[in-house]
Amino acid sequence: PPISLKESFKNDFYIGTALSRSQINQSNSKTTALLEKEFNAITPENDMKWEQIHPQKDTFFFDVADKYVALGEKHNMHIIGHTLVWHSQLAPWMQEVKDSLTMAQYIETHINTIVKRYKGKIHTWDVVNEALNEDGSFRTSNFYEVMGEDFIALAFKLAAKADPDAKLVYNDYNLWKPEKRAGVVKLVKNLQAQGIKIDGVGMQAHWSLEGPTLEDIENSILAYAALGVKVSFTELDVTVLPNPWDLDGAAVEQSYAQFEGDPKMNPYPVALTDAAQMQLAKRYEDIFKLFLKHKDKIERVTFWGVNDGQTWLNNWPINGRTNHPLLFDRNFEPKKAYHTVLALK
Ligand code: XIL
Repeated sequence: PPISLKESFKNDFYIGTALSRSQINQSNSKTTALLEKEFNAITPENDMKWEQIHPQKDTFFFDVADKYVALGEKHNMHIIGHTLVWHSQLAPWMQEVKDSLTMAQYIETHINTIVKRYKGKIHTWDVVNEALNEDGSFRTSNFYEVMGEDFIALAFKLAAKADPDAKLVYNDYNLWKPEKRAGVVKLVKNLQAQGIKIDGVGMQAHWSLEGPTLEDIENSILAYAALGVKVSFTELDVTVLPNPWDLDGAAVEQSYAQFEGDPKMNPYPVALTDAAQMQLAKRYEDIFKLFLKHKDKIERVTFWGVNDGQTWLNNWPINGRTNHPLLFDRNFEPKKAYHTVLALK
């Protein structure tokens, strides 16, 4: 019988997890045990983002990133770099650049410095993150306002030059949406038409019990694979908590904070009910069945966190909830969903 996620799916796709700063810095024996046993790929949850790794124009901070890469090498893992160019968690000094030549130079320094440092060690880069709106048009970030869509081609070109062997990915959320899917297809084709290397599309996969539909996910897998790039699920988690947007869209636009502490928003403060465990297991079963059906098109499935105790969804989009979106619970024990996923093999 299969003994771990990475063993079970070793002929199908990598099984990854995101690591937080404290997980990189300290060795918690339970985290380390799960990491070694279950996963063969890692992504840094925050520590390679621009504000962390390049906080000032002439200052790079590599301490945590170096430890992260060393950890991956020690365990012989597929190591992901996340992420080179993103409007969010961007260093404030970069946010203020308003001249396109200057911006291009800073992007060049950023990408060259980081990608060359980890050349041959980081196997896959999320080169550009979240450049599109929900309707598939370009997001009006500072990058876009100053350089137009050229910043995307520039980033991919520079990354390919800095490490010709690294796999280069465009990463974004809600890529199951038909309009956003079409935007990504256009983006990839546009790079390919210019002879610029792009190896994959990363679908973040912050999903819920209800959605997206398997059909929408499948249609995106097929659309991206048809371009000759691999698909990865880069940030998989399945929230079991109510979405504030669904309750009161208008009020939420003003502030999520008003929902903090509302018991309706936190229905499982201690543990999931048996019924909810079953629902989560069924959802993961459906998702992994779909992944297996398309394993020839899928490079990697990465969970956004090791266990429920440290998932970002305990604090997003509102603070202080008790979410249960992963395969391992707060005691590092496998949940029903874990066994259901393993039973597929
Ligand atoms: C999240 C981290 O998990 C949080 O710790 C941080 O506070 C905010 O960012 N899309 C991405 C990830 O590409 O980098 C984000 O990670 C989640 C959404």
